[in-house]
Amino acid sequence: MRKQAGSCQQTHCSLRLCLCYSSHDMEITLKSARRYLGEIPAPLLVIGVWGGAFSDEGNKLDVRYNQALSRTMRELYFKGEFGQTLLIPLRSSKGEGPRFVLLFGLGKKRGADIETLRKAGARLVQEIARLGFKEAVCEVFLSGKFGKKQASYVLAEGALLGGYTWEKYKTTGPAGKRGEKLRLWLARAWGPAVEQAAIVAEAVNFARDLVNEPPNVLTPAELARRASVMARELGLEVEIWDEEQIRQAGMGALYGVAQGSANPPRFIQLTYKPQNPASRVIAMVGKGLTFDTGGYSLKPAEAQITMKCDMAGAAGVLGAMRAIARLKPSVEVRAYVAAAENMISGSAYRVSDVLTSLSGKTIEVLNTDAEGRLTLVDAITYADRQGAEAIVELSTLTGACVVALGEKIAGLFANDARWAREVQEAAERAGEKVWPLPMEKEYLEALKSNTADLKNTHGRSRSAGAIMAALFLAEFTRKPLVHLDIAGPAYAEKPHSLGPAGGTGFGVRTLVELLQAAEKKSCAEAVKELVGV
Ligand code: BES
Ligand code: ZN
Ligand code: ZN
Repeated sequence: MRKQAGSCQQTHCSLRLCLCYSSHDMEITLKSARRYLGEIPAPLLVIGVWGGAFSDEGNKLDVRYNQALSRTMRELYFKGEFGQTLLIPLRSSKGEGPRFVLLFGLGKKRGADIETLRKAGARLVQEIARLGFKEAVCEVFLSGKFGKKQASYVLAEGALLGGYTWEKYKTTGPAGKRGEKLRLWLARAWGPAVEQAAIVAEAVNFARDLVNEPPNVLTPAELARRASVMARELGLEVEIWDEEQIRQAGMGALYGVAQGSANPPRFIQLTYKPQNPASRVIAMVGKGLTFDTGGYSLKPAEAQITMKCDMAGAAGVLGAMRAIARLKPSVEVRAYVAAAENMISGSAYRVSDVLTSLSGKTIEVLNTDAEGRLTLVDAITYADRQGAEAIVELSTLTGACVVALGEKIAGLFANDARWAREVQEAAERAGEKVWPLPMEKEYLEALKSNTADLKNTHGRSRSAGAIMAALFLAEFTRKPLVHLDIAGPAYAEKPHSLGPAGGTGFGVRTLVELLQAAEKKSCAEAVKELVGV
């Protein structure tokens, strides 16, 4: 039986004690235990191996099993390179207790960083599932080096991200045979850190599900419906506008992009309000193109293959909102998504059309494939007018950004250095890669139109494509704005170290970090100002 994405179906599960993530196919339950590795009765016991040596816990167990572990390791030349595993049966154990030990290679201890640990969590869960175990116990590797709290957090996050699968539409194959349910005990773990990691990972996987849904299922209306179901579930305020409300509100740029599709647009607004008065009001905007054919400036067939991911910015923002509703930071957070589909028809917008945006600025369309920025500027104007103090925006905006930074790194553009730093630091802490690119004012000239106030591209030129898009967006607000171009990292064409091919949920972790730190940041800044630093 299929389970609802993201919701735990287990009656015994209370977030305090047991953490479950149920995606469509594999349900992972993480249990943090105060007890030591050898004290937890699970059929599989996982021991980390660093450069050919056991941890203290590993050594203890080796003694308990008469050096069987180290002997086997030597005999089979197991070196403990990262991700390498060795399954050892324990013949002597009777009744309860482990029946197998899994030696799990972690590489060299010296070079290991926190990302090694996140990847280890992911790899470990995949390996346990592959071996067909339903329950295992594992130590929190590198607790000594990174502290129990951080090590527990990252290992748990990696495990829940790595265990993600997307097999909702498969009717045959091995799905369901292996790893349907997996209970993983983390021995000597820091419980609250594991709980928090589970909330964040579940939100990332929620975003992945949204991106992976095919575009005939996830239309703008369906995206809006899922946002409101989530909002109601988690006590967020929600408002959805339909096509007519969008037109009446004056969102002519969004409306123009959407007018070619039989699937009408939606404007999605979610609000999280903290219990005590908010220290700041932060807006998140996500690009929500449920499919991008390019419109009359049609994309070649190959370029359309991944274009269901063109709502990954929206997925990131909605995923972050999901975690925020549970983690309850003391900042007010507003999420805005202008959802539309970029299609061709007799009513579709064309090259040379002039659209009047919500801001009143007119835009000449030079390329219907530069549709994201059109939908986004109406959302940004709206967020600004509603009183956002700072805006962070996520979009799969340009192929040019992928050319510049590749598939692993998002481009970061900002009109405000302090806000840029906050977002950049949050991304660093979250383990998501972003890199700043310049907003060169001199290039803005190329976006001036002879007919309207602006044009949506700089014509035939292909130079500085990602920068031009960012400059266009920044014309619509004077508030601190960070634009993250996630066209590269939003979608993985091959399996990667933290999950399978498909939507990656990129951005969720950064946004959650950002918002959780936002309050502390503003206090710290206030103090700095007081003491005149
Ligand atoms: N959705 C695309 C950008 C994109 C490309 C996302 C690759 C993910 C992977 C966007 O709407 C687009 O088509 N941008 C154009 C802009 C151009 C016409 C100025 C592009 O990048 O080619
Ligand atoms: Zn496009
Ligand atoms: Zn697009």
